[in-house]
Amino acid sequence: MICREICFSVEGEEVDLSSFVSFLQTVGERNNCEVEIILNLKTFKMKTKVCCFKSKKLIKTIEIRARSHPNFRPISCKSKTRSEELIPHFLKLHLRRNRNLCIGIDIQTSSPFCLNSSDLKRHVLVVGSSGSGKSTTIKKIVSELSNNFLIFDWHGEYDLVHRKVNCIDLNELSKLKVHELMDLFSIALDLSDAQYYVLFKVVQVLYKTRERFGLIDLIAQIHSFEETSRWIKETKHSILRKLEMLRHERCREGVKLDEILDLVSKGLIVNLEEYSEYAKRFLTGLVLSYVFSELSKRKIRKDVYVVIEEAQNVASTSNSYSIIDKIFQEGRKYGLHIIAVTQSPRNLNEAVVKNTMLKIIHKMNEVSDAKYIAESIGRPELWKDVISLRTGEAIVSSGSYVVRVFVTLRDRAGRSLPTPHLDGDYKDFSNIL
Ligand SMILES: Nc1ncnc2c1ncn2[C@@H]1O[C@H](COP(=O)(O)OP(=O)(O)OP(=O)(O)O)[C@@H](O)[C@H]1O
Ligand SMILES: [Mg+2]
Repeated sequence: MICREICFSVEGEEVDLSSFVSFLQTVGERNNCEVEIILNLKTFKMKTKVCCFKSKKLIKTIEIRARSHPNFRPISCKSKTRSEELIPHFLKLHLRRNRNLCIGIDIQTSSPFCLNSSDLKRHVLVVGSSGSGKSTTIKKIVSELSNNFLIFDWHGEYDLVHRKVNCIDLNELSKLKVHELMDLFSIALDLSDAQYYVLFKVVQVLYKTRERFGLIDLIAQIHSFEETSRWIKETKHSILRKLEMLRHERCREGVKLDEILDLVSKGLIVNLEEYSEYAKRFLTGLVLSYVFSELSKRKIRKDVYVVIEEAQNVASTSNSYSIIDKIFQEGRKYGLHIIAVTQSPRNLNEAVVKNTMLKIIHKMNEVSDAKYIAESIGRPELWKDVISLRTGEAIVSSGSYVVRVFVTLRDRAGRSLPTPHLDGDYKDFSNIL
């Protein structure tokens, strides 16, 4: 870890300290650096500590660019520089950003727009009506990440070069803890109290008597559950009907949970297209629970980005997996980061909307959705902009900046893809990334 202290003192009264401070923080965030600013109100002396975790980029760039600017004196703890002089020069500095995550063009400045990996580490929400460009934006982000990602593809939309699996092995349900498994069943299968009770009894027996068990064992155990009353008989059959939905008819040999993390390290797409809605929800929760538990055991942290399409199905306003809450609370600690994608932000659990720091907002057709999402970024007045975005355009908000972006793509041969509105401002920049 590299830390550098930059000190200067401020003279004069009309100093826009808050914009300077927020500028420094933005620069830090975008460059994967932490910026700590301490202002001594007595002496009016400001100390800035910059810690970059992966590279010297930020420090180097500040120094190189600052020195190359004719009006800018290198900042040292001894020299005194008036902050009014500093602010415009800092703002003029176009710091070299982490190019790995450049996803498009800043429409206002026409310069490349780049996300920093730390932007993605505070969980991401991608919203937009159908056809607005959400999945295309995700493809762009993951193609920049290149590995360590896992996509739950609900509709078979992802045709990336990465490994795609169509079928998950359900013979290892016992890898989850009893309460985790019951939570998945309860939400994915929308269990009634009676169904929950019977399934819980059966699952408890299996955990006690078997070292490992899967869906087939579970179904067999339910069949043998004693029918002491009519309601138990009916409940048993209703559970069995739901459990049957978890199967994929053509899935003979699915990928095992043990294999998932290895595959994720090269980038993995779980294609859920052919599964029932119940199964899509269940499999997403199952794999997420397993990945979380494995990552939490690791000594060395490795970042994994999980894209959940149709996120409202696993974290709705009425019913949310507890694994999702857990990932939002603790995932970062273990390197697990969520990128939640939805067409209907108002159906998404409020905690997800609140806890996703980076929001990529594509066009929303409904006024109520546009108002809701504009409010969630603290900019209610932007709802009209959200409605008027064009395909591929997005408002990107990180908490410290709000930028209007046009997501640009390249095909596998590296050529720019045709964009739907290559006119006016965009034309000159279509090849920029
Ligand atoms: N940034 C972009 N540049 C060029 N074309 C784009 C861009 N974004 C989206 N498109 C075009 O719009 C179409 C719809 O985009 P996409 O599938 O990403 O939308 P979506 O929001 O994921 O829709 P859905 O909710 O139905 O899955 C794509 O097939 C693509 O042709
Ligand atoms: Mg999509």
